Amino acid sequence: MITMTPKLKEMLDELKLSNAETFYHSLHVKNLCCKMIRLMNEDKVTNYTPVEIDAICKGALLHDIGKLMVKNFILTKDAALTSEEKEKIRLHTKLGFEAICDELADNEYEIIKNICLYHHERIDGKGYHGKTDLPQYVELVAACDVFDALHSDRVYRDGFSYSKTFDIIESGGSGYFSDYIIRYLKKAAAEHIE
Ligand SMILES: [Fe+2]
Ligand SMILES: [Fe+2]
Repeated sequence: MITMTPKLKEMLDELKLSNAETFYHSLHVKNLCCKMIRLMNEDKVTNYTPVEIDAICKGALLHDIGKLMVKNFILTKDAALTSEEKEKIRLHTKLGFEAICDELADNEYEIIKNICLYHHERIDGKGYHGKTDLPQYVELVAACDVFDALHSDRVYRDGFSYSKTFDIIESGGSGYFSDYIIRYLKKAAAEHIE
């Protein structure tokens, strides 16, 4: 079971009020990620313990909490971003972790830290900071993140269909993901959108 301190609950409530799109995106990513881990564990592709699964799902829920610290007009801008604006958005990873780090328990700290800081990194080095040695669960959350970002409606465009979303993911349009991660993402997403 995922437990939240009062401050974390407050931050999520604030996100819901100030940026509902990111709040619901975070919920979708968490739900999709939980499904994906369950499927992978069932097939013995992974062997995450219940405590690790809770931490990963909680990390998925909090992965974009740093967007609270980024101005809404940048997040929802329907035009090309300036390099300064892009840099501000990139900071949501670090700002998010810094905002929640004191609220995390010892047994979830490392996992949630890695998810907040590295969910925009890609194993081929084409992410925010070119980091390639990512824990498997970070790649897993990142794949769910990309799926939901493409598939859900955004303020500036309608969401892509399931098949178009996977065309983009499989062609590397959102950065490279391992084949087995894409395979389980497909399975989980098919259940998720039923
Ligand atoms: Fe993010
Ligand atoms: Fe996200």
